Amino acid sequence: MKRIIGIVWLALAITVNLYPQHEGHHGHSHYAEHDSVVAHKLMFPSATPDRIIANLTVDPAHSFAVNWRTDQQIGVGVVELALATDGPEFLLRGVRKIKAISQKFQNQNRREPLVKATYHSAVIHDLEANTTYVYRVGNGSDDDSKWSEWFQFTTARNDMEKPFSFIYFGDAQNNVKSLWSRVIRSSFRQFPQVNFMLHAGDLINDRDANLEWGEWFHAGSFIHATVPSMMTPGNHEYRDGVLSSLWRPQFTLPENGPTEGLKETCYALDYQDMKLISIDAEGFDEHQEARTAQTKWLDSVLRTNSKKWTVMTMHYPIYSTVEGRDNRELREALKPLIDKYEVDLILQGHDHTYARGYAENKSKGLTVVQDAGTIYAVSVSGPKMYESRNQEWMVRRGEFTQLFQIITVSNDTIKYGAYTPIGTLYDAFDLIKKDGKKKLINKMPKTPVRLKKDFVKEE
Ligand SMILES: [Fe+2]
Ligand SMILES: [Fe+2]
Repeated sequence: MKRIIGIVWLALAITVNLYPQHEGHHGHSHYAEHDSVVAHKLMFPSATPDRIIANLTVDPAHSFAVNWRTDQQIGVGVVELALATDGPEFLLRGVRKIKAISQKFQNQNRREPLVKATYHSAVIHDLEANTTYVYRVGNGSDDDSKWSEWFQFTTARNDMEKPFSFIYFGDAQNNVKSLWSRVIRSSFRQFPQVNFMLHAGDLINDRDANLEWGEWFHAGSFIHATVPSMMTPGNHEYRDGVLSSLWRPQFTLPENGPTEGLKETCYALDYQDMKLISIDAEGFDEHQEARTAQTKWLDSVLRTNSKKWTVMTMHYPIYSTVEGRDNRELREALKPLIDKYEVDLILQGHDHTYARGYAENKSKGLTVVQDAGTIYAVSVSGPKMYESRNQEWMVRRGEFTQLFQIITVSNDTIKYGAYTPIGTLYDAFDLIKKDGKKKLINKMPKTPVRLKKDFVKEE
């Protein structure tokens, strides 16, 4: 048992829920806030749309998905959409109206009151590539209070004449309003032209807790409605093998996975010249059936993949950052396919530390690595922090550091930078693919490895 020195640290540990080291499915949360006005607002819907989020579809150049929530007095959902203009003239030209699918839904987390809502979901098709639109969501009435503000977003290009960028977040999970909000906000401030965001699971701590999801939506606020996202579920979106009942009502993700049960958790989509694949790692872990189905499906997706770049996200790491957190079954099933089809980059979470490297780390210590294989990254964006051990596969690692990654993809290069919320570069590389050859250029700063023990005094 570790002893913690200092009242300050003890207070921090309680507030931030950094302790103990090993998370279970039943992490703490601040449910005492139930009765507060703030918590009430975060949990319960009103007639005005909230939890508005844009998601990537299988064809982000020509469509986008949007979801939102209202109270159950609102039974109808409408999206209004127009080409963005310099002034408000888009209103005078007439807007396109798209009816959403609206479903009454209620759920009760074991430590929360019953929350009733109507969830609205729409996929907008027939959009022009590389075009800026405005949209708002509401109930179709003349009453402005039943509508969101107008958001602005830009569809994907359908060529590679210009690069695109996305931001990757490891686990947000704990104290999301208090301590994750600055991460997503500063990522957007540092890189507002970002095309989409990718969340590698454990967005929240307790599957269907309305307060926690409320915090996640609050933290991202208008960013979620402006920059489309894709997300893969982590073990904390699950409990006892069952996915959060809120996952499918509140997100619209591609339904091209292997089975009915894996829809919107295991899927693939294309963004310009990149194939992006989400593996449902917890599903993989829980059910033999889901394991076999996803492995077979992945094989067929990668076999028929004509995109130059391939990036996969899954919550559990193929290579973990410390002994005792190894995911052998996942690695043994997926690694042969990752190798066979030369997947470029694997973005993962779960270990609450940072590490980046590659499997056959023969060129350890070199700046330029010829014939580079797949790059693996494990990251954390929230405040819960574990320790790691230096391992053969790692090029750069770090503890006790909240990170987001800006990843820019052009014709021949993936540029990757891992940043802290105050904008400090912690890790970087370029992956260059030309004439069928891959070259890695390590660009991490020469700053010391950040270790938890340097910040948290323990005996
Ligand atoms: Fe996890
Ligand atoms: Fe986690």
